[in-house]
Amino acid sequence: MVPRPETEELVEFLKSDIRYPISDIVDVGTGSGVIALGLAAKLPEARVLAVDVSDDALALAQENAARLDLSGQVRFLKSRLLENVDGIFDLIVANLPYISTQDRHTLSREVLSDPEVALFAGTRGDELVRELVSQAPSRLRPGGMLALEIGLGQSEAILSALAEKNYRDICSKNDYNGVTRFLFARYG
Ligand SMILES: C[S@@+](CC[C@H](N)C(=O)[O-])C[C@H]1O[C@@H](n2cnc3c(N)ncnc32)[C@H](O)[C@@H]1O
Repeated sequence: MVPRPETEELVEFLKSDIRYPISDIVDVGTGSGVIALGLAAKLPEARVLAVDVSDDALALAQENAARLDLSGQVRFLKSRLLENVDGIFDLIVANLPYISTQDRHTLSREVLSDPEVALFAGTRGDELVRELVSQAPSRLRPGGMLALEIGLGQSEAILSALAEKNYRDICSKNDYNGVTRFLFARYG
């Protein structure tokens, strides 16, 4: 799967706006590894865990890590969201599938060439992101950050979910097209 420009934007936001030092990062739904590897390259002292439910995605991310000489810094783990993840993190970042199964007919052939597991999250589209919002507090160090890429029109519901779960410093950023695409929040 090819990283989209919005995700490169998320990595750039994180590289420029993160409050340092950050020592432990987990990228949930790592795909090709674009987020995990981008952050590992920027933060050579950080330990990065790249998680995905797909063996193919993990194999690709591992290959990319080797190519970028980052294999020593990034670990890979098969896990559904954070279910198999131990430890606590300063940053949990995720670009999970956020397309509703009902919107399948609106997608271009190019997008539909990606594996289903990388695209669809359920009938609403935000199911996986909201599940991660619920799971993340138990895996964040006090004051740690959750950073999310989300789909068009999903910000209101996910912002409410963050507030309901008592995250703080909740903020959103638009992508280059003016769409609210990235949410950031701290916990504890
Ligand atoms: C939209 S792709 C994003 C890939 C990469 N993070 C990026 O930004 O280019 C979503 C990724 O999440 C993975 N994924 C889907 N459901 C998951 C789940 N329940 N737990 C962990 N990973 C999941 C998919 O296999 C896919 O690699």
